[in-house]
Amino acid sequence: MTPYQQRKANLQATPKTWLITGVAGFIGSNLLETLLKLDQRVVGLDNVATGHQRNLDEVQTLATPAQWQRFRFLEGDIRQLADCQRACTEIDVILHQAALGSVPRSIEDPITTNSANIDGFLNMLVAARDAGVQRFVYAASSSTYGDHPGLPKQEAIIGKPLSPYAVTKVVNELYTDVFARTYGLESIGLRYFNVFGPRQDPNGAYAAVIPKWTAALIKGEAVDINGDGETSRDFCYIDNAVQANLLAATTTRAQGLLEMIGQFGKP
Ligand SMILES: NC(=O)c1ccc[n+]([C@@H]2O[C@H](COP(=O)([O-])OP(=O)(O)OC[C@H]3O[C@@H](n4cnc5c(N)ncnc54)[C@H](O)[C@@H]3O)[C@@H](O)[C@H]2O)c1
Repeated sequence: MTPYQQRKANLQATPKTWLITGVAGFIGSNLLETLLKLDQRVVGLDNVATGHQRNLDEVQTLATPAQWQRFRFLEGDIRQLADCQRACTEIDVILHQAALGSVPRSIEDPITTNSANIDGFLNMLVAARDAGVQRFVYAASSSTYGDHPGLPKQEAIIGKPLSPYAVTKVVNELYTDVFARTYGLESIGLRYFNVFGPRQDPNGAYAAVIPKWTAALIKGEAVDINGDGETSRDFCYIDNAVQANLLAATTTRAQGLLEMIGQFGKP
Protein backbone atom coordinates (compact mmCIF):
# COMPACT_ATOMS: atom_id res chain seq x y z
CA MET A 1 0.00 0.00 0.00
CA THR A 2 1.45 3.44 -0.91
CA PRO A 3 1.37 6.20 1.72
CA TYR A 4 -1.46 7.88 -0.25
CA GLN A 5 -3.55 4.69 -0.25
CA GLN A 6 -2.81 4.35 3.47
CA ARG A 7 -3.99 7.92 4.17
CA LYS A 8 -7.20 7.31 2.20
CA ALA A 9 -7.82 4.07 4.11
CA ASN A 10 -7.27 5.93 7.42
CA LEU A 11 -9.78 8.59 6.36
CA GLN A 12 -12.34 5.97 5.44
CA ALA A 13 -11.86 4.28 8.81
CA THR A 14 -12.08 7.59 10.72
CA PRO A 15 -14.00 10.12 8.62
CA LYS A 16 -13.45 13.87 9.06
CA THR A 17 -15.65 16.88 8.40
CA TRP A 18 -14.26 19.01 5.56
CA LEU A 19 -15.09 22.44 4.22
CA ILE A 20 -14.41 22.94 0.52
CA THR A 21 -14.75 26.56 -0.59
CA GLY A 22 -15.25 26.99 -4.32
CA VAL A 23 -16.92 23.56 -4.32
CA ALA A 24 -18.95 24.27 -7.50
CA GLY A 25 -15.78 25.04 -9.44
CA PHE A 26 -13.38 22.80 -11.33
CA ILE A 27 -10.92 21.86 -8.58
CA GLY A 28 -13.47 22.12 -5.75
CA SER A 29 -15.92 19.69 -7.39
CA ASN A 30 -13.13 17.16 -8.00
CA LEU A 31 -12.11 17.40 -4.33
CA LEU A 32 -15.76 16.86 -3.41
CA GLU A 33 -16.01 13.75 -5.61
CA THR A 34 -12.92 12.16 -4.02
CA LEU A 35 -13.91 12.99 -0.44
CA LEU A 36 -17.48 11.73 -0.83
CA LYS A 37 -16.19 8.49 -2.35
CA LEU A 38 -14.09 8.12 0.82
CA ASP A 39 -17.29 8.48 2.91
CA GLN A 40 -16.27 11.86 4.36
CA ARG A 41 -18.68 14.54 5.63
CA VAL A 42 -18.34 17.63 3.42
CA VAL A 43 -19.67 21.18 3.64
CA GLY A 44 -19.32 23.19 0.42
CA LEU A 45 -19.36 26.99 0.14
CA ASP A 46 -19.69 28.79 -3.19
CA ASN A 47 -21.33 31.92 -4.61
CA VAL A 48 -21.41 30.27 -8.07
CA ALA A 49 -19.59 33.27 -9.59
CA THR A 50 -17.50 31.10 -11.94
CA GLY A 51 -18.61 27.65 -10.73
CA HIS A 52 -21.68 25.72 -11.91
CA GLN A 53 -24.57 23.78 -10.37
CA ARG A 54 -23.96 21.20 -13.15
CA ASN A 55 -20.61 20.32 -11.51
CA LEU A 56 -22.38 19.44 -8.28
CA ASP A 57 -25.08 17.55 -10.20
CA GLU A 58 -22.39 15.48 -11.93
CA VAL A 59 -20.71 14.62 -8.60
CA GLN A 60 -24.11 13.51 -7.30
CA THR A 61 -24.36 11.00 -10.15
CA LEU A 62 -20.89 9.64 -9.27
CA ALA A 63 -21.54 9.21 -5.54
CA THR A 64 -23.92 6.76 -3.86
CA PRO A 65 -27.09 8.22 -2.29
CA ALA A 66 -25.59 7.59 1.17
CA GLN A 67 -22.38 9.42 0.23
CA TRP A 68 -24.35 12.35 -1.25
CA GLN A 69 -26.34 12.61 2.00
CA ARG A 70 -23.07 13.51 3.75
CA PHE A 71 -22.71 16.68 1.62
CA ARG A 72 -24.22 20.04 2.60
CA PHE A 73 -24.07 22.96 0.16
CA LEU A 74 -24.08 26.54 1.41
CA GLU A 75 -24.57 29.27 -1.15
CA GLY A 76 -22.52 32.14 0.20
CA ASP A 77 -19.72 34.59 -0.49
CA ILE A 78 -16.29 34.54 1.16
CA ARG A 79 -16.33 38.34 0.98
CA GLN A 80 -18.93 38.15 3.78
CA LEU A 81 -17.36 37.20 7.11
CA ALA A 82 -20.70 35.83 8.38
CA ASP A 83 -20.85 33.36 5.46
CA CYS A 84 -17.33 32.14 6.28
CA GLN A 85 -18.19 31.78 9.97
CA ARG A 86 -21.32 29.81 9.14
CA ALA A 87 -19.33 27.49 6.86
CA CYS A 88 -16.48 26.89 9.36
CA THR A 89 -18.70 25.60 12.18
CA GLU A 90 -17.57 22.12 13.36
CA ILE A 91 -15.08 21.67 10.52
CA ASP A 92 -11.87 19.64 10.95
CA VAL A 93 -10.07 20.61 7.74
CA ILE A 94 -10.58 23.38 5.17
CA LEU A 95 -9.63 23.05 1.50
CA HIS A 96 -9.90 26.68 0.42
CA GLN A 97 -10.31 26.93 -3.36
CA ALA A 98 -12.70 29.88 -3.76
CA ALA A 99 -11.09 32.76 -5.62
CA LEU A 100 -11.34 34.55 -8.92
CA GLY A 101 -8.82 32.88 -11.21
CA SER A 102 -7.33 34.24 -14.43
CA VAL A 103 -4.51 36.73 -14.92
CA PRO A 104 -6.37 38.61 -17.74
CA ARG A 105 -9.49 39.01 -15.55
CA SER A 106 -7.36 40.54 -12.80
CA ILE A 107 -5.74 42.94 -15.26
CA GLU A 108 -9.18 44.07 -16.46
CA ASP A 109 -10.74 44.26 -13.00
CA PRO A 110 -8.17 44.24 -10.18
CA ILE A 111 -10.64 45.45 -7.54
CA THR A 112 -13.02 42.49 -7.88
CA THR A 113 -10.14 40.01 -7.95
CA ASN A 114 -8.63 41.65 -4.87
CA SER A 115 -11.87 41.53 -2.90
CA ALA A 116 -12.44 37.80 -3.50
CA ASN A 117 -8.80 36.73 -3.32
CA ILE A 118 -7.51 38.91 -0.47
CA ASP A 119 -10.51 40.20 1.55
CA GLY A 120 -12.29 36.85 1.12
CA PHE A 121 -9.12 34.93 1.95
CA LEU A 122 -8.60 36.94 5.15
CA ASN A 123 -12.23 36.35 6.16
CA MET A 124 -11.67 32.62 5.74
CA LEU A 125 -8.51 32.70 7.87
CA VAL A 126 -10.26 34.60 10.65
CA ALA A 127 -13.26 32.26 10.56
CA ALA A 128 -10.97 29.19 10.55
CA ARG A 129 -8.95 30.54 13.48
CA ASP A 130 -12.05 31.36 15.53
CA ALA A 131 -13.65 27.97 14.81
CA GLY A 132 -10.48 26.11 15.91
CA VAL A 133 -10.06 24.34 12.57
CA GLN A 134 -7.19 21.79 12.59
CA ARG A 135 -5.68 22.66 9.23
CA PHE A 136 -6.15 25.16 6.43
CA VAL A 137 -5.00 23.90 3.02
CA TYR A 138 -5.35 26.47 0.25
CA ALA A 139 -4.97 27.02 -3.47
CA ALA A 140 -1.77 28.99 -3.93
CA SER A 141 -0.42 29.58 -7.41
CA SER A 142 2.64 29.17 -9.62
CA SER A 143 2.10 32.87 -10.46
CA THR A 144 3.90 33.55 -7.15
CA TYR A 145 7.18 32.69 -8.92
CA GLY A 146 6.62 35.91 -10.88
CA ASP A 147 9.48 37.15 -13.00
CA HIS A 148 12.14 34.86 -11.49
CA PRO A 149 13.72 32.95 -14.41
CA GLY A 150 15.28 30.11 -12.34
CA LEU A 151 14.46 26.50 -13.25
CA PRO A 152 13.55 24.15 -11.71
CA LYS A 153 11.39 26.28 -9.42
CA GLN A 154 12.15 26.18 -5.70
CA GLU A 155 9.57 27.26 -3.11
CA ALA A 156 11.76 29.84 -1.40
CA ILE A 157 12.96 31.52 -4.59
CA ILE A 158 10.35 33.84 -6.06
CA GLY A 159 10.48 36.98 -8.17
CA LYS A 160 8.22 39.98 -8.49
CA PRO A 161 4.51 39.32 -9.22
CA LEU A 162 3.52 39.98 -12.84
CA SER A 163 -0.23 40.66 -12.41
CA PRO A 164 -2.83 41.74 -9.84
CA TYR A 165 -3.83 38.04 -9.61
CA ALA A 166 -0.25 37.09 -8.71
CA VAL A 167 -0.18 39.82 -6.04
CA THR A 168 -3.26 38.29 -4.40
CA LYS A 169 -1.68 34.84 -4.31
CA VAL A 170 1.58 36.18 -2.81
CA VAL A 171 -0.43 38.06 -0.17
CA ASN A 172 -2.29 34.83 0.70
CA GLU A 173 1.04 33.20 1.54
CA LEU A 174 2.12 36.19 3.65
CA TYR A 175 -1.15 36.07 5.59
CA THR A 176 -0.98 32.34 6.29
CA ASP A 177 2.60 32.70 7.58
CA VAL A 178 1.49 35.47 9.93
CA PHE A 179 -1.56 33.49 11.08
CA ALA A 180 0.70 30.48 11.81
CA ARG A 181 3.14 32.59 13.84
CA THR A 182 0.56 34.77 15.59
CA TYR A 183 -2.37 32.42 16.19
CA GLY A 184 -0.87 28.96 15.55
CA LEU A 185 -3.20 28.27 12.59
CA GLU A 186 -1.66 25.36 10.63
CA SER A 187 -1.75 25.91 6.91
CA ILE A 188 -0.26 24.50 3.72
CA GLY A 189 -0.45 26.35 0.39
CA LEU A 190 -0.24 24.35 -2.83
CA ARG A 191 1.19 26.35 -5.72
CA TYR A 192 -0.82 24.80 -8.54
CA PHE A 193 0.67 24.93 -12.04
CA ASN A 194 -2.10 25.03 -14.72
CA VAL A 195 -4.34 22.26 -13.43
CA PHE A 196 -6.48 20.52 -16.07
CA GLY A 197 -9.10 17.79 -16.25
CA PRO A 198 -12.83 16.99 -16.15
CA ARG A 199 -15.31 19.76 -15.27
CA GLN A 200 -12.88 22.55 -16.19
CA ASP A 201 -14.91 25.27 -17.90
CA PRO A 202 -14.03 25.59 -21.63
CA ASN A 203 -16.24 28.65 -22.13
CA GLY A 204 -15.80 32.36 -21.65
CA ALA A 205 -13.08 34.94 -22.18
CA TYR A 206 -10.98 33.60 -19.29
CA ALA A 207 -11.04 29.87 -20.13
CA ALA A 208 -7.78 27.93 -19.72
CA VAL A 209 -5.97 26.54 -22.76
CA ILE A 210 -6.50 22.76 -22.35
CA PRO A 211 -10.33 22.78 -21.97
CA LYS A 212 -10.55 25.44 -24.68
CA TRP A 213 -8.52 23.41 -27.18
CA THR A 214 -10.16 20.11 -26.20
CA ALA A 215 -13.65 21.56 -26.71
CA ALA A 216 -12.62 22.99 -30.09
CA LEU A 217 -11.08 19.66 -31.22
CA ILE A 218 -14.22 17.73 -30.20
CA LYS A 219 -16.31 20.11 -32.33
CA GLY A 220 -13.84 19.84 -35.22
CA GLU A 221 -12.97 23.53 -34.94
CA ALA A 222 -9.54 25.10 -35.35
CA VAL A 223 -7.49 25.78 -32.21
CA ASP A 224 -5.93 29.19 -31.74
CA ILE A 225 -2.31 29.33 -30.59
CA ASN A 226 -1.34 32.64 -29.02
CA GLY A 227 2.21 33.90 -29.53
CA ASP A 228 4.82 32.24 -31.74
CA GLY A 229 4.22 28.62 -30.66
CA GLU A 230 7.43 28.54 -28.60
CA THR A 231 5.71 29.21 -25.25
CA SER A 232 6.12 26.46 -22.67
CA ARG A 233 4.04 25.80 -19.53
CA ASP A 234 3.86 23.24 -16.75
CA PHE A 235 0.54 21.38 -16.47
CA CYS A 236 -0.79 19.30 -13.61
CA TYR A 237 -3.60 16.73 -13.97
CA ILE A 238 -6.47 17.23 -11.54
CA ASP A 239 -5.99 13.84 -9.80
CA ASN A 240 -2.51 14.96 -8.76
CA ALA A 241 -3.89 18.25 -7.40
CA VAL A 242 -6.53 16.30 -5.43
CA GLN A 243 -3.83 13.96 -4.13
CA ALA A 244 -1.69 16.92 -3.03
CA ASN A 245 -4.66 18.36 -1.12
CA LEU A 246 -5.37 15.10 0.70
CA LEU A 247 -1.72 14.55 1.60
CA ALA A 248 -1.37 18.16 2.82
CA ALA A 249 -4.57 17.81 4.83
CA THR A 250 -3.49 14.61 6.57
CA THR A 251 0.29 14.84 7.02
CA THR A 252 1.46 14.68 10.63
CA ARG A 253 5.13 15.29 9.91
CA ALA A 254 6.75 18.67 10.47
CA GLN A 255 8.27 18.35 7.04
CA GLY A 256 4.89 17.53 5.60
CA LEU A 257 5.27 19.54 2.45
CA LEU A 258 8.51 17.80 1.52
CA GLU A 259 6.99 14.40 2.16
CA MET A 260 4.01 15.39 0.04
CA ILE A 261 6.17 16.42 -2.89
CA GLY A 262 8.01 13.07 -2.66
CA GLN A 263 4.72 11.17 -2.95
CA PHE A 264 3.30 13.34 -5.71
CA GLY A 265 2.00 11.39 -8.69
CA LYS A 266 2.20 7.94 -7.01
CA PRO A 267 -1.24 6.27 -6.92
N1 LIG B 1 -7.02 25.88 -12.39
C1 LIG B 1 -5.75 26.22 -12.32
O1 LIG B 1 -4.95 25.92 -13.19
C2 LIG B 1 -5.23 26.99 -11.14
C3 LIG B 1 -3.87 27.34 -11.08
C4 LIG B 1 -3.40 28.04 -9.97
C5 LIG B 1 -4.25 28.35 -8.93
N2 LIG B 1 -5.59 28.03 -9.03
C6 LIG B 1 -6.48 28.40 -7.92
O2 LIG B 1 -7.26 27.26 -7.59
C7 LIG B 1 -8.53 27.68 -7.09
C8 LIG B 1 -9.66 26.96 -7.83
O3 LIG B 1 -9.53 27.23 -9.21
P1 LIG B 1 -10.46 26.55 -10.31
O4 LIG B 1 -9.63 26.34 -11.51
O5 LIG B 1 -11.20 25.42 -9.72
O6 LIG B 1 -11.45 27.76 -10.64
P2 LIG B 1 -13.06 27.80 -10.72
O7 LIG B 1 -13.38 29.18 -11.19
O8 LIG B 1 -13.57 26.64 -11.48
O9 LIG B 1 -13.47 27.62 -9.19
C9 LIG B 1 -13.45 28.68 -8.27
C10 LIG B 1 -14.75 28.60 -7.48
O10 LIG B 1 -14.75 29.64 -6.48
C11 LIG B 1 -16.04 30.25 -6.47
N3 LIG B 1 -15.92 31.62 -5.98
C12 LIG B 1 -15.31 32.68 -6.59
N4 LIG B 1 -15.44 33.79 -5.84
C13 LIG B 1 -16.13 33.42 -4.73
C14 LIG B 1 -16.59 34.13 -3.60
N5 LIG B 1 -16.39 35.44 -3.46
N6 LIG B 1 -17.29 33.46 -2.65
C15 LIG B 1 -17.54 32.11 -2.79
N7 LIG B 1 -17.14 31.40 -3.85
C16 LIG B 1 -16.45 32.05 -4.81
C17 LIG B 1 -16.50 30.20 -7.92
O11 LIG B 1 -17.90 30.32 -8.07
C18 LIG B 1 -15.98 28.83 -8.36
O12 LIG B 1 -16.94 27.81 -8.13
C19 LIG B 1 -8.54 29.20 -7.20
O13 LIG B 1 -8.13 29.73 -5.96
C20 LIG B 1 -7.49 29.47 -8.26
O14 LIG B 1 -6.92 30.77 -8.11
C21 LIG B 1 -6.10 27.35 -10.10
